[in-house]
Amino acid sequence: MRYALEVVKITKAYDTSDGPLTVLRDMSFRAAKDEFVAFVGPSGCGKSTLFNIITGLIAPDDGGIIVDGQETTGRVSDKIGYVLQKDLLFPWRRVIDNIILGLEVKGVPRREAREKAMDLLAEYRMTGFENKLPGELSGGMRQRVALMRTMITDPQIILIDESYKALDYPLKIELEGELLQRVKGSGKTVIFITHDIEEAVTMADRVYVMKARPGEIVEEIRVDLGTDSFSIPERRISPRFNEYYNRIWQRIGAPQPVGA
Ligand SMILES: Nc1ncnc2c1ncn2[C@@H]1O[C@H](COP(=O)(O)OP(=O)(O)OP(=O)(O)O)[C@@H](O)[C@H]1O
Ligand SMILES: [Mg+2]
Repeated sequence: MRYALEVVKITKAYDTSDGPLTVLRDMSFRAAKDEFVAFVGPSGCGKSTLFNIITGLIAPDDGGIIVDGQETTGRVSDKIGYVLQKDLLFPWRRVIDNIILGLEVKGVPRREAREKAMDLLAEYRMTGFENKLPGELSGGMRQRVALMRTMITDPQIILIDESYKALDYPLKIELEGELLQRVKGSGKTVIFITHDIEEAVTMADRVYVMKARPGEIVEEIRVDLGTDSFSIPERRISPRFNEYYNRIWQRIGAPQPVGA
């Protein structure tokens, strides 16, 4: 079987004033088409570093990244879209010009790019906001624009680093449900980082739990809530939800042995 993404024995150390700090050690995992995969783990365990390596923004010291059967280690693959931990919209560019950025870089004619962006704006219920500046939008709207900017290039793999953190609960579950509805069944792969165990269980088909220093996967949990619903509240009340939640919480919340 050909995986959408294979991460093979990644190791990465940063040079720090205290000497080299091994952030990731021998990290391997795979993700299939149509899968939603979540990463949870303590702050500083290397989640964003892992995503930066997958997207080719930084190179690993050892190990490889294979996207759709092709090695891309240390290179940016156009099959991957990345929503960064901070939304990082350009404050001086209008909404539409933020959205078309990825197409602009690829040299797509401006008119065609803008037409695509207008279609996306309609789909995300933001028609009329195309000429606003990011500073004029609410947090949820900015998050939608960041997602549109990623989606417009039609990536096969979408990496999302904690995008819903700053949002209030109703908006967060609305955006989570929207993402499920849009992407599930499209053949794309979504890999996301979250500190929110509830988000991991309601969204993911598989959850990887990481530990820190060095960052490693300590557990893989397959989630099957037994529902096809894309509604987050409906998924949340699945009778199996608590079992998964508790299992992850125990893995994260349990004290680690000294020196681990
Ligand atoms: N460029 C860098 N140089 C040196 N150390 C770094 C660098 N980037 C990250 N680190 C360190 O590597 C470790 C992992 O950082 P990373 O940002 O990957 O963690 P994270 O799991 O994403 O954390 P959070 O949940 O807080 O976002 C941290 O201890 C961080 O201080
Ligand atoms: Mg991070």
